[in-house]
Amino acid sequence: MDLRQHIRGIPDFPKPGILFYDISTLLRHGPAWKEAMRQLAEIVRPHRPTLLAGIESRGFLVAAPLALELGLGFVMLRKRGKLPGAIIGLNYALEYGTDRIEMQADAVKPGDRVVILDDLLATGGTLAACIALLRQAGAEVPAAAALIELIGLNGRARLGDTAFDALISYE
Ligand code: PRP
Ligand code: MG
Repeated sequence: MDLRQHIRGIPDFPKPGILFYDISTLLRHGPAWKEAMRQLAEIVRPHRPTLLAGIESRGFLVAAPLALELGLGFVMLRKRGKLPGAIIGLNYALEYGTDRIEMQADAVKPGDRVVILDDLLATGGTLAACIALLRQAGAEVPAAAALIELIGLNGRARLGDTAFDALISYE
């Protein structure tokens, strides 16, 4: 099954000149969505994770069903101010300004092997911050994966020695 057929590019969203890769069409096609989860499970399993992590918000859609498929738990990496209890967080640079990613301080324990999931890798800034945050919390991050990679932005170069794979790539 060609998963590429189930992703559509929407021009000029959210700003003029940006081509937005919309996963809604994949999500609402049962067999294609199932096949995407099957392919991601194959990619992620060899890294022997003890936990998965998903990046708010579209990364939750990928990480949660994959955790069920692999029989693993799932940790939320959230935007600022959303999580209760003791929190650790990291600020990271955007094109304009900064953003912040947070997790619960007790979400991982030293020695956990966490694989991070998101829908899409663009500049890699978000994922690089998530890797750094999980490491700060004591986890290993052997790998990360996404449905889509925009290879022209070379986000992979920002991921250090964390392996990365995506199901579909676009220039
Ligand atoms: C998008 C996308 C990735 C991130 C990729 O999320 O879902 O998480 O940007 O960009 P980067 O590689 O350049 O960091 P967005 O912040 O738009 O929010 P959403 O997932 O809540 O829709
Ligand atoms: Mg996102």
